[in-house]
Amino acid sequence: MDARKIMGPGPLSPPVAPPANGRTRMLHENMIDAIGHTPLLRLDLPGPRATAYAKLELQNMFAMKDRVARQIILSARESGELRPGAPIIESSSGTMALGVALVGTALGHPVYIVTDPRIDPMTLAKLRSLGCVVEVVPKMSAHGWQSARLERLEQLRAELDGAFWPRQYSNPQNPAAYRTLAEELLADLGHVDVLVGAVGSGGSLCGSARALREYLPDLWVVGVDCVGSVLFGQPDEPKRLQSGLGNSMHPPNLDHAQIDEVHWLNDREAFTAARALAREQQVFGGNTAGSVYRVLRHVVAGLPEGARAVGIFPDRGDRYADTVYDDGHWDTHRLHELPDRTEPVRVPYGVRVRSWSCSYLTESRKDLAWRVA
Ligand SMILES: Cc1ncc(COP(=O)(O)O)c(C=O)c1O
Repeated sequence: MDARKIMGPGPLSPPVAPPANGRTRMLHENMIDAIGHTPLLRLDLPGPRATAYAKLELQNMFAMKDRVARQIILSARESGELRPGAPIIESSSGTMALGVALVGTALGHPVYIVTDPRIDPMTLAKLRSLGCVVEVVPKMSAHGWQSARLERLEQLRAELDGAFWPRQYSNPQNPAAYRTLAEELLADLGHVDVLVGAVGSGGSLCGSARALREYLPDLWVVGVDCVGSVLFGQPDEPKRLQSGLGNSMHPPNLDHAQIDEVHWLNDREAFTAARALAREQQVFGGNTAGSVYRVLRHVVAGLPEGARAVGIFPDRGDRYADTVYDDGHWDTHRLHELPDRTEPVRVPYGVRVRSWSCSYLTESRKDLAWRVA
């Protein structure tokens, strides 16, 4: 690569005209307006004839769920479900909490976040710095931390007059928030053949796919999950270390009909992939960005000349300094003892998996699979 190209033309570059179409506009009137407009990065990969792009949702103010919080909160204000100044309550220890904190406080709502002791110090500091009330439930209840958090959330809803709960797992405004992401992809690329994304609530992948398919009916959609998550017909293993993607329950916002193929990675494979993403592409991401990168690389290698595959990269690596990026954490959890496959094994849907594997979901669309075989 030519170093001069990277360093730019120097201090005396001539003034440039403002963009006529406004697409590269960098001025934002407020934090909510600044959400989205994330960079799309062409990945530098050896060999493939097709092109892989990373939609860097990690470049949002906080992370990918900033879009969801904006959509849910603005539509609740519009419908009257959320009154001006009324409290917002959310149970989350990650990106959704940060998005709600950002949008809620910017609009003058008191924000209450219910979480548990597993929350990382970085997220806790961010939430508190924005002025949120953060409640850390002290112990598990009958169904673990999730149920303890939801029980406390219900108490708060009863105590706080007019309190609004965004309900990211079932609120249709979660997937609807990704229409803007789809529009950004269409504006940048015009055509996309394959979309790859991590699945937790299902909102980002299903919402983006649904909006893109209005223009691109042949889009092939690849979901990325973790070993031990129930989202795609696997038994629950609550001790998994990966966060963000995967689930122990079935969220209504996960629309399986939107997803053609699923890949599962174990904890070692996901964490290794995040480290590879930083080393190979200079993108410092969380474990879900890593998993998407690994699957995207695999998928793009099988695509024909000229095809385009996009992966959604949800959040930055900062929160994972003590886990994904910490060798001590790897030793404590004996991650090196897990298998680490360099290629996925294709299994029939429903067969139990332990390391990188994949399955088709939609038998009817399998004729399109030549693209990614
Ligand atoms: C870091 C990260 N990656 C991926 C996901 C999965 O996204 P979705 O809930 O849209 O399926 C989440 C969800 O919270 C997340 O926090």
